[in-house]
Formats: sequence, structure tokens, C-alpha cells
Amino acid sequence: MPNLIKFCSVILLLTSSLPLFSAQWPEIRLLEIPNSELPVAVQVTIAKDPVYKTTKKYLAYPLDELLTKLKLPKQINPDELLIIFTAEDSYQSFMSYSDAVSENGYIAFKDIAASANKKWLPFKFGSEITTPEPFYLVWSNPELDKWLFPWPFQLTSISVEPATDFFAAAMPQSKQKSVQQGFKLFSQYCIRCHTVNKVGGKIGPEIQASESRKQYLLEFILDAPSFIKDTKMPSFKKQLDRENASAILAYLKHINLK
Ligand code: HEC
Repeated sequence: MPNLIKFCSVILLLTSSLPLFSAQWPEIRLLEIPNSELPVAVQVTIAKDPVYKTTKKYLAYPLDELLTKLKLPKQINPDELLIIFTAEDSYQSFMSYSDAVSENGYIAFKDIAASANKKWLPFKFGSEITTPEPFYLVWSNPELDKWLFPWPFQLTSISVEPATDFFAAAMPQSKQKSVQQGFKLFSQYCIRCHTVNKVGGKIGPEIQASESRKQYLLEFILDAPSFIKDTKMPSFKKQLDRENASAILAYLKHINLK
């Protein structure tokens, strides 16, 4: 079926307003939104596209306009919400809802450089050749922190959920400021690779924080590649300072000691 028809022959599966304590949160299934519900497409220029490593032009839907299709429960404070982007292979990326609406994000659906009957150009991803089809999240501001503003591709759905639900098992009990701040930073920069109480990614190990390892861990968090050559863990020297790294350790100690 030609892509254009595929894009037009869609059904509405937008979850309408839900009761506050429902386990189900609103979701936009991108392949199923009817054309009449889609925002007007715009052309965007991305100065430093991290996937193609060059300047790119896309046809795209403004993210903030798409998000208005989600009916958020009224009692919810947007600062406590996460946006979860799910890819075809069910890989999930997430970011703060307030961050997302503070910048110009776009859900791209066509690469202008692709020929008329194609939507995307291929790129190399690890040892594979792939494309961002069907949807790719891009940001027009080239200076954004890529950890806080992810660029997921092959997207099929966008949903919204309170951080307290999404990270429930990793939430600290303590109201101590450093622990709370540490949890926030950990959820922004680390949880995609490290699990805490079974929540999170599996690229890095479960971290055991103890008093005796504190100094070493602090340095490690800031610059893992200076400890382990070719580690998958990136350096966070640009994103975090020593105070941030200490707050993360305060959170990890609190969680491990429970
Ligand atoms: C891209 C994935 C990734 C991210 C993001 C990441 N890590 Fe790691 N981390 C790893 C991997 C992989 C290791 C194991 C080191 C190795 O063998 O290369 C590791 C190891 C560690 C260790 C040492 C484990 C131990 O017990 O000795 C600590 C501490 C750690 N990470 C903390 C963090 C913190 C804090 C953050 C967020 C600021 C973070 N990591 C972000 C992948 C990641």
C-alpha cells in the first residue's frame, strides 16, 4: 500500500480523558491518528542532526501541537509528568513534559532530501543500515542537552504519565533535599542504563553505593571513560558538577540502604 494511503487510512485511537488514578495514561498512536486530527505539517531545518550527522530538512508536526491532542487529567501538574516515546521495537525514551513544551520539538515524517516516492534516507546504526521510519523526534535548537531532549526514531507512540507512576519502584521515600535532587538527576541521566529496584535500563550494572566507595564513585560518575577504556558509560563532566554527583550518590545510598 503506498505510504500516502497508509497515512490517510487511519483510525482514531486517542484515549480521551481518564480518571485521575487510572493505571492507563493518555496515548497518541502516531500511525492511527486520522488526518483531520493532525496538526498542519511544517518544514524544519535541523542544523546538527545527530542521526545523519549533518544539516537536515524534514516535514514534521510540531510536538506541542500534537500534545494538545492528549487529554491530561486536570489535577495533574505538568512539572510532574513525563512524555514517553515508544519505538516500533518497544524501546522507550522519556523526557520531562515541561521541558518538551519549553522548546521547539517536531515529529518528523519525511526527509526533504528523499525522492518523491520515498519518505526517508538510510543511515548507519551500529552495524545495521536503517531509517527513522515512521516517525523521528527532532529539536530545532542545536544547543540542547541530548540527555534531557532525546532524539528517538522509528517512533509509533507518544504517551504521558506522572514520573511517580513510571518510576514508582525507584522513587525515594526520603524527603531530604539532596536525595530528591539526586533522584531527579538519576532519572534524567542514568536510569536509561542502570536499574534501581528493577526499574530502568540494563546496559550498566545495578549500582551498590557504600560509604567506602563514595569518593571513587563520585569521580566515576563524572568521568567513567577515565576509569574504564571503551566503556559504554559516557562522561558527564559537561552535564553534572560535583554537587550533582554527590546528590546522585545520596539518592543511591538511600535506595540501597532501604
Ligand atoms: C549509556 C549507558 C550509561 C549511562 C547513561 C550511565 N551509565 Fe553508569 N555504567 C554504564 C556501564 C556500561 C557501566 C559498567 C562499566 C563498564 O564496565 O564499562 C557503568 C558503571 C557505572 C558505575 C560503576 C558501577 C560500580 O558499582 O562500580 C557507576 C557508579 C555508574 N555507572 C553510575 C552512573 C550514574 C550515576 C549515571 C548517570 C549520571 C550513569 N552511570 C549513566 C552505563 C551507563
